Amino acid sequence: MNGLPILSSREISSYECRHGQGYTKVSVTQNDIEGSITYFVPLHDNCELWMVRLKNKDKNRRKLSLFTYVEWCLGNYAFDLIERNFANLFNEISFEDNIFFATKRYWNLPVPRRRARDKLFSLNTNLAWDKFAFLTASFKVDGFDGLKEKFVGMYNSWLNPKGVVEGKCTNSLGDGEDIVGVLQHDFELEPEEEKKFVIILGVVFEKKDASGITQKFDTWEKAEIEFERLKRYWNHYIQSLIVETPDKDFDLQVNVWNKYQAWVIARWSRMDSYYIGGGSILGFRDTCQDIMGILPTNLRWAKERTILVIEHQFQDGSCLHNWDPRTNLSTKTGHSDDPLWLIITIINYLKESGNWSFLNELVKFYDAPPATVYSHMIKALDYALSMRSSELAGFGISLMGAADWNDGLDQVGKEGIGESIMTTEFLCWMLLEVAEVCRRNGDKEMMERYLSEYKRMKEKLNFLCWDGRWYIRATNDKGEILGSEKNEEGKIYINAQTWAVMSKVAEKERAIQCLDSVKEHLDTEYGPLMFAPAYKEPDPDIGIITRFSPGTKENAAIFNHTVCWAIVAECMIGRGDRAYEYFKKTSFIERGKEPDIYKVEPYVYAEFVYGPDSIDFGQGSFTWTTGTAAWMWRVCVDWILGVRPELDGLKIDPCIPSGWRKYRVRRQFRGSEYDIFVTNPHGICKGVQKIVVDGQDIKGNLLPVFTDGKVHKVEVVMG
Ligand code: GLC
Repeated sequence: MNGLPILSSREISSYECRHGQGYTKVSVTQNDIEGSITYFVPLHDNCELWMVRLKNKDKNRRKLSLFTYVEWCLGNYAFDLIERNFANLFNEISFEDNIFFATKRYWNLPVPRRRARDKLFSLNTNLAWDKFAFLTASFKVDGFDGLKEKFVGMYNSWLNPKGVVEGKCTNSLGDGEDIVGVLQHDFELEPEEEKKFVIILGVVFEKKDASGITQKFDTWEKAEIEFERLKRYWNHYIQSLIVETPDKDFDLQVNVWNKYQAWVIARWSRMDSYYIGGGSILGFRDTCQDIMGILPTNLRWAKERTILVIEHQFQDGSCLHNWDPRTNLSTKTGHSDDPLWLIITIINYLKESGNWSFLNELVKFYDAPPATVYSHMIKALDYALSMRSSELAGFGISLMGAADWNDGLDQVGKEGIGESIMTTEFLCWMLLEVAEVCRRNGDKEMMERYLSEYKRMKEKLNFLCWDGRWYIRATNDKGEILGSEKNEEGKIYINAQTWAVMSKVAEKERAIQCLDSVKEHLDTEYGPLMFAPAYKEPDPDIGIITRFSPGTKENAAIFNHTVCWAIVAECMIGRGDRAYEYFKKTSFIERGKEPDIYKVEPYVYAEFVYGPDSIDFGQGSFTWTTGTAAWMWRVCVDWILGVRPELDGLKIDPCIPSGWRKYRVRRQFRGSEYDIFVTNPHGICKGVQKIVVDGQDIKGNLLPVFTDGKVHKVEVVMG
């Protein structure tokens, strides 16, 4: 459902749109009437409130009419948008006791139904939408319209709806039509007089419940109290991890907006995107990565989500690629990276919580009864190990499967032969992490097996997949290589380099060499590209990546998600200035300073920024729903500021720009608060000389774990 402020074509004397955490406020002055609408969703009710304020700045008394306008989205926005004429045929509306209702007698939600004849499941959509949307207001409605054609008019538009031009709704109702929600209220304003109204747009299972919600918010005062509650909620959340650095833009991003985006994305996943996704799918790998963005601030919620993803693993260790949370239905695609995201998610939870008993908790499989979290993790790793290419015909490394993290490489391994260097690097990283968990769990044999697999895979990557100055990215079913000097297009891919460093596959010199190649071949004024040069023509043996226009999305754009890993890798080799340069070039606050080029919201990450092969070079796209939200927030705190949870405690390992002389991080960890002051007297990027905790020197850079719930002062001197 959309609340669209209708503006007539008359001149506006002032306009402001202000976004805060959980609300948006639009203020307009027009024709001597000063008005504003604040939109927000209450913390615990299924509705949106619009707080409308109108003031007469004219010398004369004014007679006014207020009209609301919504276009209903009932049950499935993709269906409503794509098949609008068909979708309209199921619409039902009514107006009862000052409340306008809308529902749909058809819901194209696939649910499984057993067919008696052959005992097979079929998908059944023989349903009505199970809810009613409603629209009501704090005022007595003087007129309404439910039919779009009646209100907007056959030859008019949103700029001059017939109902507004004529100053009168027609009280239109009718089923099976293109429907809207218009409420009219007529009133007068003396000079300087102000009137305030609340509009309530909500959804309920039964019509009778709408009046309950309405009573909660049907005065300005009640709505205001709720708005204050919402602000308190966000203020509290924002305070949960605070940084103070010499760069105020960095602070604003980390403390407020990136943290906020990470929260929102953990709720939405990629489901609510108008760009892509169809509105109902929870991605497996996406959800795993989104959890990273809430772990430091809401451990309980992070644990719930972790269990949710574990529940979507099969008994053989493989995982679903995505599922519909309403029905829990899905298709199994065979993306090679999914089981590895399950592992990192469990490990991340252990590092944040220190709660080792989690490994013994029982969680069900998608297709089998519960088993311990530990065995879910082991099965995922063993499954990933089993999905390797033949040593004779291939490199003996991870198969690409349906694709890897890069969904665009979707034809590379369709015959089951193509290989993924990135998945192999991911596998290496997880082998190291799980080996460590096995060691602590007393599983020495498993630990040794995983470490020797790690060694083998690392050797293969370094001997077989090193192209001279960087690592190749993949092989396809024909044995052709992607990401080599010999390729004319797709010569060098960023992920194969950054993940080589993150997985410790690339040792010191190679790590420097491959990251220097990234800088040399991929960096642009707006940050490093996913790969270069772009694919100019579709290549059926590579996939959709080559079908995107050159410079867009996965075809050689600046894909912000991948920039996060470039920053991690640069921090791992100690190049704080370069890590920061990549951060700055892609930061939405920085990019928002050039709105005519960047064009999108300057307060959240976009999935990608068009690359130089596109005429829109520098423009952001696919904002909000991106794994960058969680990753970049964590990268800033964990890797640049270097306050990072490890299995044994909080590690202090800064990798900052050499110009910074001091900074501070306040962070909760395992129930206590750490107030960390870092000084950098010699202007270096990395290295810790001394750490003092509560007045006592400690050895090394791992902070002790406290269980007293108190604030602990940590002083760090770099050197
Ligand atoms: C999108 C998808 C994510 C994928 C990435 C790269 O962000 O949501 O799952 O890994 O694109 O293809």
